[in-house]
Parts: sequence; structure tokens; C-alpha cells
Amino acid sequence: MATTNLIKTSTACANINIALLKYWGKKEEKLNIPYQSSISLTLDGLYTTSTLTLDPLLTEDVLFINGKRVSEKEQIKIRRYLNLVREMYHRFGFIKVDSYNHVPTGAGLASSASSYASIALALNNIYNLKLDQKGLSSLARLGSGSASRSIYGGFSVWHHGEDHTSSFAEQLSSKWDELVFIVVILSREKKLVSSREAMKLSLETPAYQNFIATSNSLYPKMLEAIKKQDLMRLGPLVETSSELLHSTIRASGIDYYLKETYEFLDYVKELKKRFPLFYTLDAGPNVKILTSRQYLDDIMPFFKQYEIVIAGAGGEAYVQTESTR
Ligand code: PMV
Repeated sequence: MATTNLIKTSTACANINIALLKYWGKKEEKLNIPYQSSISLTLDGLYTTSTLTLDPLLTEDVLFINGKRVSEKEQIKIRRYLNLVREMYHRFGFIKVDSYNHVPTGAGLASSASSYASIALALNNIYNLKLDQKGLSSLARLGSGSASRSIYGGFSVWHHGEDHTSSFAEQLSSKWDELVFIVVILSREKKLVSSREAMKLSLETPAYQNFIATSNSLYPKMLEAIKKQDLMRLGPLVETSSELLHSTIRASGIDYYLKETYEFLDYVKELKKRFPLFYTLDAGPNVKILTSRQYLDDIMPFFKQYEIVIAGAGGEAYVQTESTR
């Protein structure tokens, strides 16, 4: 039930982020409260734009992605999110969400992060929530944990917290313009197991305790390496976190790597003998290579047979337009 006859619209934009220190596993499922804190870099040029419309004529929430009405399974996900937001913030009225991903959807390139961060910003407007950035980060987290970090530009830290208000991300003051990711797209297929499902399975394995303990020990070291802008310190820590994530996932019988991923990582191993570059993978088969801009010209010829995107640090999420009619 809408409270007025007015139609409110807001469009917001958010970049994806790549976790340098990975998040994996929820202490509280409904609110996406994690067991450990994580660190990420928001990327430039890979983003989602979401237009939300609060329309009194709507009889239910509806989601379109790239102009197409999504499957019922996806509709249920967004309705669960919007219902939770309405319940927690005491708001009313159904919403049409029109998202455009400028990212390959569901291929481990974290389009859920840019999607929910952009949705949270637009929601803040049309529901008049008046949230500050921490509040926006928590609002985005309710949709997808990693989205909490896409509210900010550059580096961010998601403090695990204990409840809805204490689990939010914050921007790190460090600026490191030389740092760059080469995103290597090995597959555009949608993954078979969602991160939510895979996380649940991981929690039941003995490997999970080691994931938490090791991630916690990597955390201060990574903050220090970012502060010092030391690629040779940061790179190995990023690889350790990625390896740890994927060995934890494999312990539950799931492997996000494809044959192409293993082959590509063998190739990376050879390239590492010549260049300072480091790899990381999220819940998908695509590989992100971390390096410094100064090496790009020399490295690029070695990637010409691959579909790649080069992305440095991106800016914060922002509202493009808002209107009431
Ligand atoms: O919040 P989700 O459901 O997008 O899960 C993200 C999990 C990883 O991408 C693997 C790690 C991370 O911290 O982004």
C-alpha cells in the first residue's frame, strides 16, 4: 500500500569491487552479517545503473535486468530484499527496479555488489531514508554482503560487526592510483552454485575455522601493505586470501574454477617469473590480475589472446537523477 499517489523515481550508479581480503560465510543469514572483516578495491568502468520507481499502481515489486523481466527465482530474491527493507525501516509501497549491468552478470565479477549498492542509493531517495554512507552501506549489505563495499570509491573495509547497524563498510583513506586490475574473462556463463548456497555448505566443513583464523591474521598485514602502497607485500597476501577462499570452497565439494581457469593460472605462474603480477578470483571462474600501471605496456602483449578489461580504482556510488510526479 502506497501512502501517496505520487510516482517517485531515482536512478543511481555503483561500481563493482574486487575483494582483496575475501568475505565468505554468514553469521546471520537474513542480514548478511559475516564472520570476518574484508577489504576491497572498487573498480572503474564496471558498474550497474539502477532506476527505481515507487508507483502506487504497482501490485508487487518487479525486477528488470538489462531491459528484461527476470525469472521468478530472481523476482523472489529482490522481493525478499525489499520486504526486509520495508519491515526494518517502516516504509510502504511496491517498487519497479530497472537495472543495467555494465558487467558480465553472474560470472564472478560481483555484479551483485554494484547492483545492490546502486539499488540501496536509489531506495534511500525514494523511501526518504536519509541515511549517511555507513547507513547506505548497511542497506546495500542486506541485498548482498559485498555490496556494502561498493558504496565507496577506492579501498574499503567492511567491518563484520554484530548486527545491522554495526556491520558496515568504510572507505580507507589510502589512494593508490598506480594499482590496476586486469580482469580476464574466461567465461560468461552464469555460475551453477550461488555464493549464498556455497557459503552455507562451507560453514559445515572443518576447513571453515581455518578460513576465519587465517583471514583475520591477513587483515592487519593487508591494511599495512595498502598504507605503504607496497605491491610486493600486498600481492602475495591477495593471492593467499584467494587460495584460502577456493580451498575452503573445494572442501565442500564445489569448484568454481573451470579447466580454462586452471590453464590460465599455469600461464600466470610463468608470467610471474617476468613481471610483478598477482591473481585473485571470487566465486566464479574469471581471474583478476593485480599489478602496477608501470608494467602494463610490457605485460599487455602476453594477454592479447584473452578478453580482458583493465580497471583501476573507481569512484563512489552516486545518484544520477531523482524526480516526483
Ligand atoms: O556478497 P556476495 O554474495 O556477492 O559474496 C561475495 C563473495 C566473494 O566475492 C567471493 C568475496 C568477497 O568478499 O567479495
